[in-house]
Amino acid sequence: MQPNATAVAQQAHRYRDIDVLPFGAALGAEVRCGDLRRASAAQIAQIRQAWLDHLVLVFRGQTLSDPELLALARHFGELDDTARPQPTDQPGQDLQTRALTIVSNVIENGKPIGALSNVDLVWHTDMSYIEVPPDASILYAVEVPAAGGETGFCNMYRALETLPREMRTRLQGATIKHDATHNSGGFLRKGFDPPADVTRSPGPSHPAIRTHPETGCDALFLGRRPYSYVQGLPVPESEALLEQLWSHAAKPDLAWYHKWRAGDVVMWDNRCTMHRRNAFDNNARRIMHRTQIKGTRPYAAVNAGRAQVHPRGLTN
Ligand SMILES: [Fe+2]
Repeated sequence: MQPNATAVAQQAHRYRDIDVLPFGAALGAEVRCGDLRRASAAQIAQIRQAWLDHLVLVFRGQTLSDPELLALARHFGELDDTARPQPTDQPGQDLQTRALTIVSNVIENGKPIGALSNVDLVWHTDMSYIEVPPDASILYAVEVPAAGGETGFCNMYRALETLPREMRTRLQGATIKHDATHNSGGFLRKGFDPPADVTRSPGPSHPAIRTHPETGCDALFLGRRPYSYVQGLPVPESEALLEQLWSHAAKPDLAWYHKWRAGDVVMWDNRCTMHRRNAFDNNARRIMHRTQIKGTRPYAAVNAGRAQVHPRGLTN
């Protein structure tokens, strides 16, 4: 999707040292600022503002070693090294290795070099299965297939603002349990058993509506659908409510898909978006390097229901 020229002109005053080109979609913007390895302090501050404004940012044509990717991430907060084990993890990984995840279907010497293979990944918020999920995730594309493997993002501010009023009222004060046992590809994590009862499966409960700690705006917070549970409801009622919420949140007009090129860096706000991935041909190679910014606050519903509306929460 091409950037919207009118929106570019409207926002020019906000970003003096970078170009921010919003996509004509529910969320997302391309940022042009040259080589990210040489970004100035002023540019980093404006990138941070653009990230809060547009939820997902795309930088094209970058070249980053792993230490450079981690150095970039450190501009935005503390690295997160708490990701739960993936089936491909090796024992004895150091901090840098734990802060950097390889997402790939490539097999070398009979072993996968990364996680999540080539399958469809369901809509999710990264690591919503811990008490304080990461604030941001950054993906850097090393090799991408010619087709498939696109990453979709959806705007959870707008998902809340477009929710039918009676459902929003019903969610005031509600908490949802987020399953820790499976990853977004549907694979069972190491050390976990499949949950026999969603009311007692491992994972924290988070408010269904939460206030973004930096923008002060409310967003719907669902995490991921499999094995989730609305606390306090009989399981059939919880399932019925979750089905309604998920069919709403997964509407195409809340989403935007990124078609990757090698050298792309994509950074998203994990507190107000979800993402998913399209499957791709397993004969093609896809190698992505990912790092995350550690969350700074628990997902408390600070003033849920009384916060201001994010500009991107409004429909165009
Ligand atoms: Fe993810």
